[in-house]
Amino acid sequence: MKILGIETSCDETGAAVVENGVKLLSNVVSSSQDLHKKYGGIVPEIAAREQVKIIIAVIQEALDEAKTRSAEFDAIAVTIGPGLIGSLLVGVETAKTLSFISNKPIIPLNHLLGHIYANWMEQRPPKFPIISLIVSGGHTDLLFMENHGVLKWLGGTRDDAAGEAFDKVARILGLSYPGGPEIEKIAKDGDPTSFIFPRPMIDSPDFDFSFSGLKTSVVNLVNNFTDQKTNQFSRDLVANIAASFQTAIFEVLIKKTLLAAKKCAVSEIVVGGGVAANKFFKKELRNQSSIPVRFPPIELAVDNAAMIASCAYFNFRPGKITEIQAQPGLYF
Ligand code: KG4
Ligand code: ZN
Repeated sequence: MKILGIETSCDETGAAVVENGVKLLSNVVSSSQDLHKKYGGIVPEIAAREQVKIIIAVIQEALDEAKTRSAEFDAIAVTIGPGLIGSLLVGVETAKTLSFISNKPIIPLNHLLGHIYANWMEQRPPKFPIISLIVSGGHTDLLFMENHGVLKWLGGTRDDAAGEAFDKVARILGLSYPGGPEIEKIAKDGDPTSFIFPRPMIDSPDFDFSFSGLKTSVVNLVNNFTDQKTNQFSRDLVANIAASFQTAIFEVLIKKTLLAAKKCAVSEIVVGGGVAANKFFKKELRNQSSIPVRFPPIELAVDNAAMIASCAYFNFRPGKITEIQAQPGLYF
């Protein structure tokens, strides 16, 4: 079964064709990231306007690359939330129109669940039961999954998401958006023991997170160091702060994920979302875990439509065109 996936929850416009949930035939992603850089974050109206312009071309490219004519795919999968309302509307309405004219079923999906399925397009799929850690720009969640569609939400962030903390700290440090890759890059030259930042909720017995205090602590430190006259700080200092911050945030994520894996006695840990692109995180979690840990390839960790198409295959619940709607606040 070939599924055409469509993903437009944030600034990316993605279309992909995946066969039987595991075989990636095409994965096209167009991002309006460069247009947002000067604002230090995503401007929703700009993102949606760009998506309207390019969505048809992106879908066509994905079909061409997969050598699939529109009559040849079996279903359409689309992200309905969570995300930016204007962006979601572009994907959802396009998918509904395509479903109507092609007479193919449409599967509405939760973007967060999609992030987990970025790990299914590997030679060997993850083995249930699993603990899934979703670490994206807007969410940080731990899930216990016994099987496809059988899941229990264990906990999540009470304030900032992990990716959001990376983006905000990067901004304070004068690094560009998105902040995660920038912090990872400069942290390589820094000393992670230079500053001891708080590890919020690291010892709490639940599976919740909180990263806003950690972010504030970095802000306060930066304000103390900033040269009042030039409003600048040295590259070495930025590298040391980045390395210390990254170490603190990953220490919390790793400890809670391993705790959840132990408590639920799972076979594997599966990580998804943009922060899963971080190689330092991947290495640390793998080093500390006694069970297999999955991280998707970088291009599937960040937002893309292939994960949506894969998710749809394993959670095949078509919806009615008249009932499918964009749901910006969708959660578990
Ligand atoms: O999953 P994603 O592409 O979009 C959302 O659904 O939010 O995640 C984007 C987030 C951004 O906050 C970005 O800074 C972060 O993922 N990110 C990273 C890295 N690459 C992207 N965070 C840490 N290290 C990275 N290498
Ligand atoms: Zn995402």
